[in-house]
Amino acid sequence: MEILDVQNKVHDESKQGEAYSPFKLDTTQYKKRFYIESYGCAMNFSDSEIVASILHDEGFGATKNFEEADLILINTCSIREKAELTIRKRLTEFRSIKRKNGTLIGVLGCMAERLKAKLLEEEKLVDLVIGPDAYRSLPGLIEEAETGQKGVNVLLSRDETYADISPVRLNSNGVCAFVSIMRGCNNMCSFCVVPFTRGRERSRDAYSIVAEAQDLFNKGFREVTLLGQNVDSYYWIDEQKDETITFAKLLEQVALISPLLRVRFSTSHPKDITDEVLFTIAKYENICNYIHLPVQSGSSRVLQLMNRTYTREWYIAKVNRIREILPTAGLSTDIIAGFCTETEEDHRDTYTLMEYCKYDLAYMYFYSERPGTLAAKRYEDDVPEDVKKRRLQEIIDLHRIHSLESMQRDVNKTFKVLIEGNSKKSDEHWFGRTGHNKVVIFPKENYNLNKGDYVNVFVKECTAGTLLGTIETLF
Ligand code: SAH
Ligand code: SF4
Ligand code: F3S
Repeated sequence: MEILDVQNKVHDESKQGEAYSPFKLDTTQYKKRFYIESYGCAMNFSDSEIVASILHDEGFGATKNFEEADLILINTCSIREKAELTIRKRLTEFRSIKRKNGTLIGVLGCMAERLKAKLLEEEKLVDLVIGPDAYRSLPGLIEEAETGQKGVNVLLSRDETYADISPVRLNSNGVCAFVSIMRGCNNMCSFCVVPFTRGRERSRDAYSIVAEAQDLFNKGFREVTLLGQNVDSYYWIDEQKDETITFAKLLEQVALISPLLRVRFSTSHPKDITDEVLFTIAKYENICNYIHLPVQSGSSRVLQLMNRTYTREWYIAKVNRIREILPTAGLSTDIIAGFCTETEEDHRDTYTLMEYCKYDLAYMYFYSERPGTLAAKRYEDDVPEDVKKRRLQEIIDLHRIHSLESMQRDVNKTFKVLIEGNSKKSDEHWFGRTGHNKVVIFPKENYNLNKGDYVNVFVKECTAGTLLGTIETLF
């Protein structure tokens, strides 16, 4: 696996993240240059690393400056309308450079899959439209596009996992990396476009996952996040050993690479997370004590319309089980406000569920109807926008209280922190995270530490999003 010092921050529409930021790389050794921006979830970010690898093998080097690129790629997200509007706006910004240099423009990812050839009609500057399972066809399509022929490949696959492609690490801090363990989603939550843009669920060969994580560890990485839309339904049969590999077994295999390798995962589905997974987390100190368990709504009635296949009571029982087996685990969630037919009473159910769970972290959105989804076909998007926004604001305000309480609970405690790099604000301070996923900033003092090292930090105070501490002991 190649690791380049290239930046490609996720413009995380799904997680309310920041705008992209492109590359830093000597590209003189390459015959052509590409520029890539990623929007959406971590899966897209991870896919951009596959794309970078495919292009790299074709003699393309990355550039941080789209004005000097031969090929501009934009890896897109369709999860909410706003995500698509942001991308459309960004495309218009490439218009003048296309006119000036004839740069090829390619749209990848979920919006490419959703709109298919229609995107070529709607966005005249686009030359290539390539869906998430079709990245291997990029070189051929680029070649055709260079002769002036626009290209589309949005075929979804039942078995493509890109297992044999070694990702080129983009925007790497050299410490943390994403590893895709599966693709697609079979869940059909009624609000969600992902099953249509990412296709059927399939799990990647466990050997290739463990090999990738081992390779990352050998290169100095100290944290891997195993990625899938629904990691708990990971399922792969090891024919050599005639053994079924569940997500719990996979977690264990990755954890066994080294006690120095932290293992995270995202996302868990409340209906699928098993005791076996919880006990595996409890057994291995290096599997992070942190679970992202999207609830979406606290009302059983709305959950049923959302096709989430669990009730409020089921969800609460899962949270209780997590707290029983993993008493110190961090818990985060996703919530949608104002789904079709949501009443004030349903909204209050979400509110009281939040009061029960007291999430450490929550990503909250108002419902955005997506064309083609089950909800768009079956239900009317009948909650007025101002009501959606008011309800969203109420849950955001409540979550703020919970997250501050969660930060305050960690003051006067000591945590094992993995150093990820310098603090953004000062080179005199380290930036790292605890196992339960909280950011910690602390002075370097005179210790001879490096990023990738572990250190025990005593937390003295906190802000809304950061723990501030001092080094207590080294490892
Ligand atoms: N696979 C993950 C989430 C994928 S999308 C899961 O099952 O939880 C990330 C989040 O975006 C979802 O959890 C949901 O809260 C939100 N989301 C998805 N579709 C949406 C829509 N149409 N409107 C608003 N938010 C949506
Ligand atoms: Fe979408 Fe539901 Fe699949 Fe998550 S589990 S990607 S919300 S359909
Ligand atoms: Fe967006 Fe596709 Fe991810 S719709 S959230 S980029 S799977």
